[in-house]
Parts: sequence; structure tokens; C-alpha cells
Amino acid sequence: MLRIAVLASGRGSNLQALIDAIEARGLDAAIVGVFSDKADAKALVRARDAGIDAFALDPKTFATRAEFDHALFEQIDTARPDMIFCAGYLRLIDERVVSARRGRIANIHPSLLPAFKGLRTHQQALAAGVAEHGASVHFVTPDLDGGPVIAQARVPVQAGDTAETLAQRVLAREHPLLVETARWLAAGRIGLSEDAVHVDGVASATPLQLGANNRFA
Ligand code: GRF
Repeated sequence: MLRIAVLASGRGSNLQALIDAIEARGLDAAIVGVFSDKADAKALVRARDAGIDAFALDPKTFATRAEFDHALFEQIDTARPDMIFCAGYLRLIDERVVSARRGRIANIHPSLLPAFKGLRTHQQALAAGVAEHGASVHFVTPDLDGGPVIAQARVPVQAGDTAETLAQRVLAREHPLLVETARWLAAGRIGLSEDAVHVDGVASATPLQLGANNRFA
């Protein structure tokens, strides 16, 4: 069974999607801990409500980002996760911490990477006038939002969309995207070698695409 740790700074709706999928027996995995840089993150409440260990560490009590990250990941390591999902985790992670866990950290980002890295991705998409937006799950590497993309969900931009309406429709697709990615990871179908995502042992040129049935094609 895939042991998942989740890192979250806020609302935790992606965490909730994983919890719900596991409870509904739609995902053969266990969430072995939820970790946050914010003691008041709603994600921690969601975790505790589901009987999952939840842990917060305050970055302000550390002299440097690296020290904080080392302490946080030391805690994460005690839960022995196979995969660590950043789901709305709003901090950069120290390069050495990331490199030591190559292929074991993934992040969900609300854009069709490599387009619109960073913050305010929905505003960025609207300002660029794209017809299609969406979300990506990618392996985390020291390159911010630049790690190899595993899978994507595409969302058409509609006339009259605001950043809020677009964000809502993207978020609704993030949840099944993260769950389906976790399923494929749990089944051992996805890996990272060199700089490419491997699917069923073969380097994949394009990210997996989430279909209308919430499964990869
Ligand atoms: C999501 O849009 C995620 O893609 C981004 O932050 C948001 C987190 O939402 N990285 P939630 O905390 O999972 O509800």
C-alpha cells in the first residue's frame, strides 16, 4: 500500500480529496501524516477529523529556510512515506532536502505547466488570453514548478471568466487529477528516471491526461 505524506499550508481541499478517495476504497493508499508550516491550516483540522496524524512547525522559530526544512522533513521521515504530496504548500523547499528525495515528492500546481509558474496562475492565464487552462502534477526538483510533469487536467476558459470562476473550475479538476495520479503511483506505474517521467517503464514524452471519467486515458 502506498504510504502518502501530505504537505499543506491552507484549505486542504486536495488533501480532502485523497482522504475521501481512500475512505471510499477508490485509492489503495494510506495517508501517514499531514504536515504544515501553519498551525492554523484547515488542512490540519481535516487530517485530525479523519484520524490522521497532523503536525505543524513554525518557520519563524528557525534561523534559516534550510534548518526549517531539515527539521520538517526529519519529522516527515519518521512517518516513512513512499510519496510526499505538496498540495497547497506555499513554501519553497531546500534544494538538498528535495534532491535527497528525488522522485518521491510531487506537487499539484494550478496551471498547464510549463505555462504560468508561480502564483496567481488564473490571473496569468486570463491576462495571456489562453483558450485552455488547467492543473498539473509534477515531480518536485530544485527548479521551482519546473520538475517533470506527470499528469494534467485541462479546463477550457469561458467567456466572462474571472480569476475566481476559473479557479473554481480548475480546483474541481485538481481533486480527481491528484487522486488518479496517486492511484497510478500506488500501482507502481509512474516513476522518475534521469529527467523524464516513466509510465509503465517507458519514458513518456507528454503528461498523462485526465479524461472526463476522471481516469487517465
Ligand atoms: C490548489 O489550487 C493547488 O493547486 C495550489 O494551491 C491550491 C491548494 O488548495 N498549489 P487546497 O489547499 O488543496 O484546497
